[in-house]
Amino acid sequence: MISLDRRRLLALSVTAPALTAPVITATLPVVLQAAERQRELRFPLRLSANENPWGPGPAARAALAASVDESCRYPGEVTNRLVAAIAAKENVAPDRILIGTGSAELLNMLALGYCMRGRLVSAWPTFNYVHAMAAKLEAEVVRVPVDQNLRHDLGAMAAAAKSPTGLIYVCNPNNPTGTVVPADALREFCRSFGERTLVAVDEAYLDFADPAATASVVDLVRADANVVVLRTFSKIHGLAGLRIGYAIARPDIIRKLRGLQLAIPNGPGHAAALASLGDADFLRTTRTALLADRARIVAACDALGIACSATQGNFLFMKTGLALEEFRAQMRNEKIEVGRPFEPLLDWCRITVGTSAETTAFITALRKIKGVRA
Ligand SMILES: Cc1ncc(COP(=O)(O)O)c(C=O)c1O
Repeated sequence: MISLDRRRLLALSVTAPALTAPVITATLPVVLQAAERQRELRFPLRLSANENPWGPGPAARAALAASVDESCRYPGEVTNRLVAAIAAKENVAPDRILIGTGSAELLNMLALGYCMRGRLVSAWPTFNYVHAMAAKLEAEVVRVPVDQNLRHDLGAMAAAAKSPTGLIYVCNPNNPTGTVVPADALREFCRSFGERTLVAVDEAYLDFADPAATASVVDLVRADANVVVLRTFSKIHGLAGLRIGYAIARPDIIRKLRGLQLAIPNGPGHAAALASLGDADFLRTTRTALLADRARIVAACDALGIACSATQGNFLFMKTGLALEEFRAQMRNEKIEVGRPFEPLLDWCRITVGTSAETTAFITALRKIKGVRA
């Protein structure tokens, strides 16, 4: 599945200091250097939830601070402005956007609207939030194993969705594997179901992906396909605690989902999200830092003979050679929290890329667990 040649080469040529040195500190953009300086390593390190530790960015922080006075009010105008800004970014009309309390709320709404006593098809393992609600709604949940490269098996998923299916969930890049589906194959897959089955494409991590590897399928929404695209401010924007995600879909689908909304939105969060959308510097520099540190972890794994999936997210999925609970316990001894279990791959672990200092601490701990002296 994963070539060992590159790994062996690296094992011979990469020295321990090269692996653990924070390679980019000297060139880190000023905004990230400032955040890193302020952020002493705070143990336990949280490399477990795919957050972006560099956030919130400067513009979002300023907007949050400025909205404190408005926190006594129910949110209003700021939500309309956020919808308009998202619509402009996605090049769709505002009636194709629905903001949720995190994309998690939108996933619950999708389950309520499309899975009640019906059928859900997805890859497995994947982000299993919609599955939990679908199961509560007595849906049949069909889990289609990823292929040997830990990628979605679209052919097997299409075959599984031949029986009447309310919702197909595709996570691209996939959590926890980080693998992607090429955009053209995904578009063809989505279109093949016509009006029969709604396809939800969760693009939570798309901002980290190489544009040559995959792309958004939002163009299908512009073409009125039976597709919902999900995005979130929890990942590259570094605003996970503020709980803001959005759906992009045809107006009739948005109307149906809106009718199932339970939460009232968070006004200061919307102000921060609006500011973050315009903070191109922060988004670019945070992406650069996370991808550089992700590459450092991949190189460390290569040198240690640890296989990693071909990740395109701000996280890695690695075959540690230990049962997950044992690996988690050993990492906990090093004061590092790592990813939860993703059945059936229980000798693999998902690691979120942290700050550069956290990455160095993780690599040092990994080498120690693998018996390599510092
Ligand atoms: C693929 C995927 N979708 C959605 C979510 C939920 O994100 P939010 O914070 O927007 O609810 C996550 C969270 O980790 C995720 O991994």
